[in-house]
Parts: sequence; C-alpha cells; structure tokens
Amino acid sequence: MSELIVVARPAELARPAVEWLELEVSRAISERGRCTLALSGGRTPEPVYRELTSASGIDWKRVEIFFSDERAVAPDHPDSNYRMVRAALLSRVPIPAGQVHRMEAERADRDAAARDYERLLPRALDILLLGIGPDGHTASLFPGSAALDERQRLVLPVLGAKPPAERMTITPPVIEAARKVAVLASGEDKAAMVARALEGPLAPTAVPAQLARRGTWFLDQAAAARLTAPRITA
Ligand code: 6PG
Repeated sequence: MSELIVVARPAELARPAVEWLELEVSRAISERGRCTLALSGGRTPEPVYRELTSASGIDWKRVEIFFSDERAVAPDHPDSNYRMVRAALLSRVPIPAGQVHRMEAERADRDAAARDYERLLPRALDILLLGIGPDGHTASLFPGSAALDERQRLVLPVLGAKPPAERMTITPPVIEAARKVAVLASGEDKAAMVARALEGPLAPTAVPAQLARRGTWFLDQAAAARLTAPRITA
C-alpha cells in the first residue's frame, strides 16, 4: 500500500520529505547500526537535499550514500546527478568521503562500471529515493526498456529517452528489495503518470514508476490532481 503525502505547493514538499528521511535514517541506524541511502537526480529532490543539511537528527557518520541512476558525464558536468547531490547535500554534511558511492557512468566501458557498482550495493538498500518523469520513468528505467525485464543484474548501462541519453541505472530487483522507498513529484505534467503509477492496472513496462507503488509518495497538488484515492495532506 502506498502512503501519500500531498502538499499545496512544490516549495512545501521538502519539509515532510526531510522529516520522513530523518525518521527512516534514524530508524535504520538504530536497528542495523548504519543506513544505506540511495538518492536520485532530476530537479525535484534538490530542495529536499538542501534542507536535509539542517536535519539535526541524522548521524552522517553512519550513513552510506548510493545513487539510483547517473548520466554518462563527468562528475563535475552540469548534467551529473552526483554533482547536484554533492553541491546540495554531500559537501555540506559531515559524511566521510569513503561512504559516498557515485556511479561512474562516464567510464568508456559503462557495462564494467555497472558491474563494479553492483558489487558495492547492499543486498537491500535501507532507503531508496526516486522521482518520476512525465513519461512514467523512474531512476533511468524508461518505458519499454529491456532493463525492466532484468532479474539478475542490479545495475545496467541504458539509453534513456530524457537527455543526456547514455545512462546507468539500478534495475527492478533493487527497487523491489529496498526496505523503504520514497517518490517525489511535482507539477501537472506528472499528474497523469502519477495516477497510472499508483492506481492504474499493473504494467511496469509501460509505467516503470509502478515499481515504486508500495512506497511513500510526496506530491504537490498539481501532481496529485488525477488521483482518486483518499490522501493524507501534510
Ligand atoms: C535522472 C533521474 C530521473 C528523475 C526523473 C524526474 O537522472 O533524470 O534520476 O529518474 O528522477 O526524471 O526528474 P525531475 O525531478 O527533474 O522532474
């Protein structure tokens, strides 16, 4: 069952998402001594990452950062997910450098880079933060992609419909195994796919974000506009 948190305006998404993260990170640390947290790229989570820097309840020395996907660009390129996360969050919190695992999607042999990343991933991530595209993609799992049928590999090089096309992504088994999943979405261009992801007939090949259906979804009113189910409003 999904949990829905709906706020009026996009600027209000960060607060409940940060509160949720603070709670879930602390819970993972108290239960297992550390928290493995995978972050996504895109524009929507940036304010959440910025606000997370002032979350006093997070013991960063016990957090390990992973990524849901990455574009095939250098880590200092404006399109790099790592660059965005580093600027908004990682450079501003006391997390040991060795606990940040970026996807090296810029390597010439992206398949080897994906296999290397797979070896770093825990069996089950404690927390996986995702986004959704207006076409229903999540991480870099795009509608119709062969990566959606993957059951063995945990990380794959892919070509995405959203530029830049060359990417690396986690696969469905990683989303399924994660202990907690959260999805952030705002804007009316996401509304149709948010409704299909949460309430439509199951067809993850057409709507990959359905893989995160059981998660906690943080939406603004515009993105939630086509949902029929009752919702919690933060
Ligand atoms: C990426 C992402 C991707 C993103 C969605 C939503 O690298 O592009 O990880 O899956 O989360 O496309 O992006 P926006 O938040 O920018 O709409």
